[in-house]
Amino acid sequence: MSKTAVVTGGASGIGRCTVEKLMTDGWTVWVLDLSEGKAEESADAPRYRFQRCDVGNAESVKAAFDEIKRHSEKLDAMICSAGVIRTGSLEQHTLEQVDAMIGVNLKGPWLCVREALPLLRKDSSVTDPSRVVIVGSIGGIRPKVGTGFYGATKAAVHVLTGVLAAELAPTGVIVNAVAPGTVATPMIESVQTSQDGSGYKLSGDSPLGRIAQPEDIVDVIMFFLSDASRFVNGTILPVDGGTRAAFIKK
Ligand SMILES: NC(=O)c1ccc[n+]([C@@H]2O[C@H](COP(=O)([O-])OP(=O)(O)OC[C@H]3O[C@@H](n4cnc5c(N)ncnc54)[C@H](O)[C@@H]3O)[C@@H](O)[C@H]2O)c1
Repeated sequence: MSKTAVVTGGASGIGRCTVEKLMTDGWTVWVLDLSEGKAEESADAPRYRFQRCDVGNAESVKAAFDEIKRHSEKLDAMICSAGVIRTGSLEQHTLEQVDAMIGVNLKGPWLCVREALPLLRKDSSVTDPSRVVIVGSIGGIRPKVGTGFYGATKAAVHVLTGVLAAELAPTGVIVNAVAPGTVATPMIESVQTSQDGSGYKLSGDSPLGRIAQPEDIVDVIMFFLSDASRFVNGTILPVDGGTRAAFIKK
């Protein structure tokens, strides 16, 4: 039988690429996002379901999972990729910017995992666990001037990943996070053009001589969904081509 996953932020970037890979591999995929965006191209594809949802809003998340529960008896995986970034110095940040990042990047995964749990636990066990993968960021491990608050939300979601992993494992759900470096997605295009005077700079190419493509991150997400990672739980795995490994003077 086809496996079923929920992908938040599945209309764009890393989330969108995850949806494509899962569908190619035969999964049924629920996309939770503010709008369908590029994902509309998949609308007629078998096993593709879109549910409009604001992951930072508890009522919206509950309504989306109520709909999922009407159609799917169980979930095999949940991938939390929805995220927003606002650049600016900590002195300059507005409350609105900060609330947006806390809502989507931190409260979002917590609200979605919580609502998904009854479906994730269905037919799962410690020997055959369902999977949660959270998309964190290298910015939560190595903070950066100009994205201090974004990094703080990512560091916090790394903490939630570890605690969820320990709390949920006995009930047959394992939880891990990827922490990407710079990835070529619409999010990074928007940051490149921001002129906020905060001193924010993209890290530039990794030691491998390039930034990541979404596929570089999705292959690691797929590892976390595979049997090969059955004993990996609560890990925050940097996927950054070695960018954080040592300081490089540019
Ligand atoms: N691109 C990078 O360099 C990079 C690096 C490290 C981590 N990340 C993280 O990867 C994840 C995916 O980012 P991306 O680069 O693919 O960005 P993206 O902007 O291409 O995609 C983000 C998706 O999240 C959705 N989204 C935003 N707010 C939402 C909300 N309230 N409810 C539901 N959906 C919402 C957007 O509509 C969009 O489809 C994010 O969590 C981001 O923080 C990205």
